[in-house]
Amino acid sequence: MKPCFWVWLAIVTNVVSATNIIKRLPDRHYYTLHVPEVDHDTHIAAQHVAISLGGQFEGMVGELKTYYMMSVPKSSLNKRSQGDDTDPIVTAFQARKRFDKRDENQRLWDRVQRLDPQVPRQRTKRAALPREPPFTEISKGQAVMEDAQRVLDIKDPGFPRQWHLVNQEVFGNDINVTDVWKQDITGNGTIVAILDDGLDYESKDLAENFYAAGSYDFNDHEDLPTPKLFDDTHGTRCAGQIAAQKNDICGIGIAYNSRVSGIRILSGEITDADEASALNYKYQENDIFSCSWGPPDNGETMEAPDGILADAFINGIENGRDGKGSIYVFATGNGAVSGDNCNFDGYTNSIYTITVGAIDHNNAHPPYSESCSAQMVVTYSSGGGQFIYTTNVGKNVCSDHHGGTSAAAPTAAGVFALVLSVRPELTWRDLQHLCVQTAIPISTDDEDWKELPSGRLYNHKYGYGKLDAHTIVEAAKTFELVNKQTRLELPVVDPEHEKIPIPDSSKDEKKKQALESKVQVTDEMVKGAGLLRLEHITATVNIEHERRGDIVINLQSPNNVISELATMRPADKSSDGIVDWKFMTVKHWEENPVGEWILQVYDVSHPETNGSFFNWTLTLFGEMDPNFTGEPNYTPLAEKNQTTTGPIENLSETLIPTTASSSAAESSVSQSDDTVIGRPTRVKPSVSDTTIATASSNDDDDDLKETQTAGSVSPAAQASNDEEEEGREAGSGTSTIIYALVGSGAIITLAGGMYVQKRKGWRSPVLASTENAPEGGRLTGYEFQVLRNSEEQEEDGDERPLLTEEESRRNNVSS
Ligand SMILES: *[C@@H]1O[C@H](CO)[C@@H](O)[C@H](O)[C@H]1NC(C)=O
Ligand SMILES: *[C@@H]1O[C@H](CO)[C@@H](O)[C@H](O)[C@H]1NC(C)=O
Ligand SMILES: *[C@@H]1O[C@H](CO)[C@@H](O)[C@H](O)[C@H]1NC(C)=O
Ligand SMILES: *[C@@H]1O[C@H](CO)[C@@H](O)[C@H](O)[C@H]1NC(C)=O
Ligand SMILES: *[C@@H]1O[C@H](CO)[C@@H](O)[C@H](O)[C@H]1NC(C)=O
Ligand SMILES: *[C@@H]1O[C@H](CO)[C@@H](O)[C@H](O)[C@H]1NC(C)=O
Ligand SMILES: *[C@@H]1O[C@H](CO)[C@@H](O)[C@H](O)[C@H]1NC(C)=O
Repeated sequence: MKPCFWVWLAIVTNVVSATNIIKRLPDRHYYTLHVPEVDHDTHIAAQHVAISLGGQFEGMVGELKTYYMMSVPKSSLNKRSQGDDTDPIVTAFQARKRFDKRDENQRLWDRVQRLDPQVPRQRTKRAALPREPPFTEISKGQAVMEDAQRVLDIKDPGFPRQWHLVNQEVFGNDINVTDVWKQDITGNGTIVAILDDGLDYESKDLAENFYAAGSYDFNDHEDLPTPKLFDDTHGTRCAGQIAAQKNDICGIGIAYNSRVSGIRILSGEITDADEASALNYKYQENDIFSCSWGPPDNGETMEAPDGILADAFINGIENGRDGKGSIYVFATGNGAVSGDNCNFDGYTNSIYTITVGAIDHNNAHPPYSESCSAQMVVTYSSGGGQFIYTTNVGKNVCSDHHGGTSAAAPTAAGVFALVLSVRPELTWRDLQHLCVQTAIPISTDDEDWKELPSGRLYNHKYGYGKLDAHTIVEAAKTFELVNKQTRLELPVVDPEHEKIPIPDSSKDEKKKQALESKVQVTDEMVKGAGLLRLEHITATVNIEHERRGDIVINLQSPNNVISELATMRPADKSSDGIVDWKFMTVKHWEENPVGEWILQVYDVSHPETNGSFFNWTLTLFGEMDPNFTGEPNYTPLAEKNQTTTGPIENLSETLIPTTASSSAAESSVSQSDDTVIGRPTRVKPSVSDTTIATASSNDDDDDLKETQTAGSVSPAAQASNDEEEEGREAGSGTSTIIYALVGSGAIITLAGGMYVQKRKGWRSPVLASTENAPEGGRLTGYEFQVLRNSEEQEEDGDERPLLTEEESRRNNVSS
């Protein structure tokens, strides 16, 4: 075939068009073709391969110039073989690539690196919805509320119930937004896309702020994100939090003159190609992507966006908002009660997403909200008996039972919409700097708050603290944009040992032993990378273990700041180990990185299961020095690899063990292993929670007064956290270890088979989630529901609906 034919074909089939959303038809099976090199005829290679394989060429995937799609009728495939190793299209592709014909088209085959079947699967919502009577008590913040009503002419009948905007009961426990509004900063010009289960653009509270051109339904492949399933209320509620109009319906949005797009992805299955397109959908217009979903928060899943999804995030960061980067806001997840931790979720632990957790109206950590070192800030949501009041599906319908970390992410997105309306030129990293700089530490008696070298406080449950709309908007007004990003990548591989057994700490509770691996960061390396200001850190870790949930990992900085990268996850019985997993921490933001970084790996609980450590890579991300000239050296150790060929000296120096003291927390940890403590039975919003028309009163409140039971909560919360402090001190005194000299300045160390007994106790996320509940009121029935009759249960669904359930529901609805 002559090249001009392909050019002609390209023109007639119009594959060179811009945003190409490929409507996924139910009777076809789809594949992505990855062509890493982009030039003028990238699509020709993809198209040639697609057609040669007997498929229909569908064009580019979303905004991703290196991905194309092809499809075949499902009827042409054996149902069993769709998407697995025996998929005939995949087999044919691989065979043809292996079989080097060296004909004129081989060049085209060579360019297509991968072909991946697109298997639809379900993304899950994050709506922990406990039920308690709505509050009615009015007290001292009332003046602020009434002043705002008067000055801003707010007539929304639900405004007084929106305690997260003006808290009349506990003064100051709100996002502090009214003085921002009084400056006429209300989100003008900013568009927030809600990636969720739909958006009711016919709601009179949202219609005028709805941005149809930025909206799409990836579940049913239609232009408008119409909620269709009985429980498609979540996206509308999130949209209401951000952009509910100032009118006479329900409450008011945080950025009530911003606009919202609805991108429907949660109401059924979508493929990775759909999700990738959704994450970049209209990303020159949609500024912020609010995401209240993710992999299941069951305490055992470990899943990250890879391949096309990872590329979609990078594409969004590099090219979204004209190169300033799309703002991705993700909820930490509601799995804390199941022992989950947001560092095991590749969406929340990505450096490209702003990870937002929840606090309740008492500034307390609600038991559902996951902790982790990737958490940046928290904001208000349900807990302690109160919920978020917002717009609901229907022309004139409100909800007073929105909550979970699901509701925290849109609140943050609303605050960011205010910030961008004042400073639209801020990049994705500028906004993260603003979060770090302006977050306000709360509940500071919590023992996980640690003062950092930067002078700030950090807590794995609260991040840098709560978002304060007034403070962050004021800071944004004069914020100096940061320079571009640079990084320093330091792989640590023990040259002698293929793998090193991780000492078992489950038998002797008085002595915890860590396998430690160290890497030295020198001033020379930092300067060579042009790294001026440290931002995110990732640790990419490889460990094999018979029971993954037993692995506990800390990262200790040269200044003895300890990030909890992996906490024990009692429910995680997987024997897959940790494979190239990128743990992330924001706790070292603006710390001086020069010195020794130590990765500490513990094996807790279950003596019968063992594991070994392979290697890790420390990557420091940060702002590049504006004065830096020349080529940054991102991988200083790699350059010096030539010199590692000789015998490694002093590999086995003597180890200086530190005597360890017993940890009180430990026994609780090991007791809690097999039984996952107190899981909420229902966490998803249901049709039966209060869906009230504005006009009506709360007659149905009685329905809400359900009997609560906290009976299944283990008293594990008694753990003391003194160990935390001790751990820090112990860290500095623990000298040890063997040095493998690599080149001149670079030292990599790996404690091969050498264990240090540490004083440091580790913390169970289960403990972490319960111990900070408000005194007295702790867990008062909070989010533990009595099982209702089976019919209602069924309607309630689970927070994480399974494919089959969701499918059958959909079928029910459509039939
Ligand atoms: C809330 O905003 C006001 C201005 O309206 C500001 O003076 C105050 O410091 C803010 N509150 C906090 C806790 O920063
Ligand atoms: C924002 O939009 C509203 C409604 O169109 C308008 O009243 C207000 O003046 C605008 N504010 C700014 C700062 O443009
Ligand atoms: C784990 O290690 C212990 C002690 O080294 C050993 O006795 C046991 O057999 C190991 N278990 C497995 C499953 O390898
Ligand atoms: C790290 O360990 C993994 C798992 O064994 C291995 O696949 C990988 O090649 C190792 N990386 C390096 C740089 O040795
Ligand atoms: C960059 O160079 C200028 C001029 O020499 C100096 O004033 C400034 O402090 C330098 N900036 C940094 C971050 O070192
Ligand atoms: C050293 O690293 C460079 C860059 O990663 C690589 O190209 C080279 O092959 C390596 N040399 C040796 C001897 O491993
Ligand atoms: C190895 O250790 C010995 C004794 O501790 C020391 O004299 C020598 O300098 C060390 N070699 C290197 C390369 O560090």
